Amino acid sequence: MNQQILKDTIMQLFANGKGLLAMDESNGTCNKRFAAAGIPQTIEMRRKYRELIVTTPGLNESIGGAILYDETIRQQTKDGIPMADVLEKAGIIPGIKVDMGAKPMAFFPCEKITEGLDGLRERLAEYKQMGVRFAKWRAVIKICTHIPTSSCIQANTQALSRYAALCQEAGIVPIVEPEVLMAGNHTLQQCYDVTEEVLKALFYQLYQFRINLEGIILKPNMVIAGTENATRNNIDEVARATVNCLLASVPATVPAIAFLSGGQSPKDAAAHLNAINKNYKSHLPWIVSFSFARAIQQPALDLWKGQETNVEEAQKILYRRAKLVAAARLGDYDTGMEKSVHFI
Ligand code: 13P
Repeated sequence: MNQQILKDTIMQLFANGKGLLAMDESNGTCNKRFAAAGIPQTIEMRRKYRELIVTTPGLNESIGGAILYDETIRQQTKDGIPMADVLEKAGIIPGIKVDMGAKPMAFFPCEKITEGLDGLRERLAEYKQMGVRFAKWRAVIKICTHIPTSSCIQANTQALSRYAALCQEAGIVPIVEPEVLMAGNHTLQQCYDVTEEVLKALFYQLYQFRINLEGIILKPNMVIAGTENATRNNIDEVARATVNCLLASVPATVPAIAFLSGGQSPKDAAAHLNAINKNYKSHLPWIVSFSFARAIQQPALDLWKGQETNVEEAQKILYRRAKLVAAARLGDYDTGMEKSVHFI
């Protein structure tokens, strides 16, 4: 019976051209972003910021699901309404990040293994009571000289599969996120090769762990040159490499792919997603959507600056960014919309 619940949840998350909003930054990551924007790094400021997001008018026009962090799902708006209830009331399905972060992998310098499997069955049961219908686990793969190793890829894809099994057992859709990081000076081709290797290893492990592929969402990186590489590929080149890599590695039974933005600018992330959907629509067996954090949130966070008086403007920017990305998800975005006052 769970299988049907999983499929229904996925279809609801991506209905009518919608995508996902990742707002599940750990306290450490959220504090780092607050510090960069000059915002005090306190539990109350994080609560206020998350309230700003979940109460944004019209967010449900482009966002079908929002991924929360453990602290946030236990918090309430200033009116005493749990954040998950606010989302649900707006027609946005609440999700939760359940991994406990990527930790240094012993004996594998510069590589990380994501932790969080211990007690996960019990945590998922508690989250389900709170209204959660999907979850996220992020593995991190770095490209550098001699890495990633096959040990790192295997350990992380196995952990992703064990997590996915526990989610499906609980009737919760697992977002499976093997992120090949943009940080580094690697070429687009190197990113392609590593992403292909990671995805092939992932789907082998998912099969080994008896995961129903029709009940998962894949959250991959786009295939793109490292941030420190001077050669920048154009939008169509990134779209082509990304689509070819996914077609070579991701079974057609997976219903939906939702990209992370990975540190791309909001405009680049939207343009790449748009080109993927526009240029390759007839080739894609999956829904190809978004699960962005920074590429939706960053302009709003920068504008908010932690000031009550900026909340309304920040919400307008957040709403607009989400609309632009949703247009890209259908291949209907163009850069002219960025300036157009008529597009909102
Ligand atoms: P970015 O879109 O900022 O990369 O974040 C997505 C995410 O959820 C990473 O786990």
